[in-house]
Amino acid sequence: MTAFIQGLPKVELHLHIEGSLEPELAFELAKRNNIDIPYESPEALKLAYEFEDLQSFLDIYYQGANVLQSEQDFYDLTMAYLVRCKQDNVIHTEIFFDPQTHTDRGIAFETVFNGIHRALDVGESELGISSHLIMCFLRHLSEESAIDTLEQSLPFKDKIIGVGLDSSELGHPPEKFTRVFNMAVEAGYLTVAHAGEEGPAQNIIDSLEMLKVSRVDHGVRCVEDDKLLARLIEEKTPLTVCPLSNIKLCVFDDMKQHNIVELLRKGVAVTINSDDPSYFGGYMTDNFLAVNEAHPMTHQELAQFTLNAIEGSFISDEMKNRYREQVMDYVSKF
Ligand code: HPA
Ligand code: ZN
Repeated sequence: MTAFIQGLPKVELHLHIEGSLEPELAFELAKRNNIDIPYESPEALKLAYEFEDLQSFLDIYYQGANVLQSEQDFYDLTMAYLVRCKQDNVIHTEIFFDPQTHTDRGIAFETVFNGIHRALDVGESELGISSHLIMCFLRHLSEESAIDTLEQSLPFKDKIIGVGLDSSELGHPPEKFTRVFNMAVEAGYLTVAHAGEEGPAQNIIDSLEMLKVSRVDHGVRCVEDDKLLARLIEEKTPLTVCPLSNIKLCVFDDMKQHNIVELLRKGVAVTINSDDPSYFGGYMTDNFLAVNEAHPMTHQELAQFTLNAIEGSFISDEMKNRYREQVMDYVSKF
């Protein structure tokens, strides 16, 4: 089954580019930019990646982003992620970036955007990986700051497919961002939001209704509300689940307790994603392997995760058809 999973074409819909910063690259960028990292070595930094909840991770994650300074740094970060994607047979990826993490440190929006986007262009032309970019608002910051960020993004609107919502879910419910999400929809952006990761099922309902999201990021706490669960199945709402992330952040005690395969078998449009792979111990293939080890699946079930991701992605119908055929072909030949 390992070989099947390794070769399976994959589509990633939940990846924070800042969360793909590997300790080795962090040290290289720190040296390049003359920035001090309060750890002896990449290995020592990696040992600090032990978290008890979302907030304990976010504290380290925002600190880690400080080494990103120039357009070239953002390019190198994104290119490294795309090279990893290629190894895992990722054919399409939709990437989150957090502008406020950088603009609040005095880095220009276009520095961040240009570096990431240039790498995505090269990823497409040289690695054959298609992609979209989604700009996230940090929910622990104000609505005003989100609106300011939305305005800064407008010159790049044709190269950003949508807006999302990440950071601390508890204490910062979807309704805080209703106005800025409405403005984003009016500007032509699609919307997604993290909900039901640490927060209650009601956050999933509010994201659907107030923020008009096309998919829900995480969403694993939907099982706490039977009516919501039935609605997600009926409306085929994609959930971008991140199994290794959920274990690292103690959303579930261990992979055997994880509900992703139960959700798949109930007919929920769940997908497998890596979230912040450098911090959570694995990229796409690692996530598939970990889920399958705890919950053995058939080839068809494993392929269904990719089919759900293709359907839930923001690519054209024509591309969806092409990618679907690629997956069916792979399954039938294996
Ligand atoms: N949840 C919320 N915010 C985040 C995450 C996450 O899993 N990763 C990066 N920012
Ligand atoms: Zn996330």
